Amino acid sequence: MSETRRAELGEQRVAVALTVNGRACRLAVEPRTTLLDALREDLALTGTKKACDRGECGACTVHVEGRRILSCMTLAAMQEGKQITTIEGLEHDGQLHAVQAAFIEQDGFQCGFCTPGQIMSAVAVIEEAKAGWPSAATADLQRPISLANLSKAEIRERMSGNLCRCSCYPNIVAAVAEAATRS
Ligand code: FES
Ligand code: FES
Repeated sequence: MSETRRAELGEQRVAVALTVNGRACRLAVEPRTTLLDALREDLALTGTKKACDRGECGACTVHVEGRRILSCMTLAAMQEGKQITTIEGLEHDGQLHAVQAAFIEQDGFQCGFCTPGQIMSAVAVIEEAKAGWPSAATADLQRPISLANLSKAEIRERMSGNLCRCSCYPNIVAAVAEAATRS
């Protein structure tokens, strides 16, 4: 490919309209821009963390249309018209979300780098359990899961896509269990 052609391609931009934390956003991004990079670089929402950048750690977890997604593994252009929620969008009127409060109370972090992703996953775990979705840890698929029977084994399995280098796992599980009782 010629340098001229490469330069032309490098300057291509696609228009993307997203609603992020309730705010309408219009971006012009390179087609290869991940949702993670668009959030961090174009919208300055740096609460969503970039760690592995290849779908292995969960640090970049956000919600798209209410479902958790690894934002490093999807292109911003693929989310045209979607509702995105990041860690910055969880609190309302100065009140922390119940999961955020539980992470503080249960000391569910050390360095904090994985914490936004952990919290976004935990919020989704609680909604998934409310909706009765089973996991690999669900013993009886005939008996729908609910918040009342969201065991620690269930929480560990459902949070297993979120890694923590500080190994705060026992406290993270305790925080999710605590938040589940308040949800
Ligand atoms: S940064 Fe996306 S999974 Fe690790
Ligand atoms: S609190 Fe440090 S990586 Fe999880």
